[in-house]
Amino acid sequence: MTAQTLTDTARALVAGDKGLLAMDESNATCNKRFAVLGIPQTEAARRDWRELIVTAPGLGDSISGAILFDETIRQKTNAGQPFAKALEAVGIIPGIKVDMGAKPLAGHPGETVTEGLDGLRERLAEYAGMGARFAKWRGVIAIDKGLPSRACIEVNAHALARYAALCQEAGIVPIIEPEVLMDGDHTLARCAEVTEEVLQQTFVQLRAQGVLLEGMLLKPNMVLPGQKAAVQDTVAAVAEATVNCLLRTVPAAVPGVAFLSGGQSAQLASARLNEMNLKFKARMPWALTFSFSRAVQQPALDAWKGDAANVAVAQQALVLRTRANQAARRGDYKQDKQDQQDKQDQQDK
Ligand code: 13P
Repeated sequence: MTAQTLTDTARALVAGDKGLLAMDESNATCNKRFAVLGIPQTEAARRDWRELIVTAPGLGDSISGAILFDETIRQKTNAGQPFAKALEAVGIIPGIKVDMGAKPLAGHPGETVTEGLDGLRERLAEYAGMGARFAKWRGVIAIDKGLPSRACIEVNAHALARYAALCQEAGIVPIIEPEVLMDGDHTLARCAEVTEEVLQQTFVQLRAQGVLLEGMLLKPNMVLPGQKAAVQDTVAAVAEATVNCLLRTVPAAVPGVAFLSGGQSAQLASARLNEMNLKFKARMPWALTFSFSRAVQQPALDAWKGDAANVAVAQQALVLRTRANQAARRGDYKQDKQDQQDKQDQQDK
């Protein structure tokens, strides 16, 4: 597999004004979200939900790549087409989550290390055979009194780099996702400090392990105050802090940065992405886009509620959000106006 193939795929994923769709929730996470809405927590219901997403009319106009979970990449649409093939058919590149989850880090209460390196070479070969062209691995960093520890930052950065090197060996573009959580009452400044340290360490490890920067993507958190912080900073302050942090840490050779949403509301995630692209596009050497799960899926899941009669409405809600974020990538997102206009467009179709 050539470096050119990796570079081409990474660039294709962040080309134009599209973004990525994270639909790779583990069964446990998916079930938790289903439980809140009284949706059965079964493989069949999870398949139905993923079918609704993959077959949403017009999804490929705003989404360049979709990240699947192991269960989903093995499932088929009602028409008998594997999900990866159904995505390809509408111009969406299939990807796969390959980490095995964040597990307690020995000797460090409240912190985790992401597992899944054992056997990863073999699993990547299998996923490549099923059509996956990119992958995702999420490391998790919590902020609290005395946290994160140096150990937590280093082991997660190290694992991300080992995963990335294995992906590139298999011709698969790695998405590097070091997530600094927004749980807690910390300030925006504290999140900025931790995120900067985490990203710096991550790129030290990526370099040490020979990862091709042109053939990877970064999926970071936005720099945000904790969800319980007394001061909730403005969209402008979040945009500035986030872009400054990325400019200090992410090499220009990386083709794109695609944010996770991390528990922000759908509208705020779009508004913040929009502000960054609107104000700072000229200063940024990489594409700045989205790879949201909750901020794109939640309104659609709320509309679906597990009922086949709601599929069309839920698909419209999904595409409303992907199009809103597509506009945010251009710096064109006007919260209320955009949402209203898109709703109208969907109804007129
Ligand atoms: P959220 O956008 O819901 O944070 O999910 C992104 C993701 O892929 C988590 O790993």
